[in-house]
Amino acid sequence: MLKKEIANALILQLNKEFQSAYIYLGMSAYASKIGLNGSSSWFLIQYQEEVAHAMKLFKYLEDQDVDITLPKIEKANVDFESILDTFKKALKHEIFMSANLNELSDLTMKNKDHATYNMLQWYVTEQVEEEATLNTIIDKIKLVGDNGYGLYAIDQELGARVFVDPTSN
Ligand code: FEO
Repeated sequence: MLKKEIANALILQLNKEFQSAYIYLGMSAYASKIGLNGSSSWFLIQYQEEVAHAMKLFKYLEDQDVDITLPKIEKANVDFESILDTFKKALKHEIFMSANLNELSDLTMKNKDHATYNMLQWYVTEQVEEEATLNTIIDKIKLVGDNGYGLYAIDQELGARVFVDPTSN
C-alpha cells in the first residue's frame, strides 16, 4: 500500500510520461514537415518509448492497488526553429524529466518506501541514457552546421533506429 503523497506523485509522473510522448509526437510532425523523415521516425520511436515508460508506471500503480486518476495532457508544440532547436528542446525536456525523477526518488527515500525507490531507479538509469543519446545527436548536427549533405546523412542514420521496448529488459 502506497502512501497517498507517493501515489499522487507517481500519478503526476505517469502524466508527465504521457506528456513526453505527446511532445515527441509534435517533434515528429515538425521533422516530417521539413522533410527530415529519418528524424521524424526517430521522434516517433521516442514517442513509443515514452508510452512504454508510462505503461510501466501504470502497471506499478495497478499492482499497488492505487486508485488511478488520469490528469489532462497539455497541447504539444509542432513548430520549431530548426531540427537543431528541436533536439535541443528534447534534451531540455529530458533534463527536466531527470530532475522530476530525482525528486521522486528523494521523496520515496524520505518515506522509506524501498519498493517504489527501487522501481524508480530503472527510470533514473534510463534518463542517463536518454540525455547522452540526445547530446550525441546535438553534437553531430552542430558539427555539420549548414551542410545539407551532412544533415541528410545524419537524418538517414536517425531513420535507422528501431523500436525496442525499453521496459523489456
Ligand atoms: Fe520517459 Fe524520456 O522520459
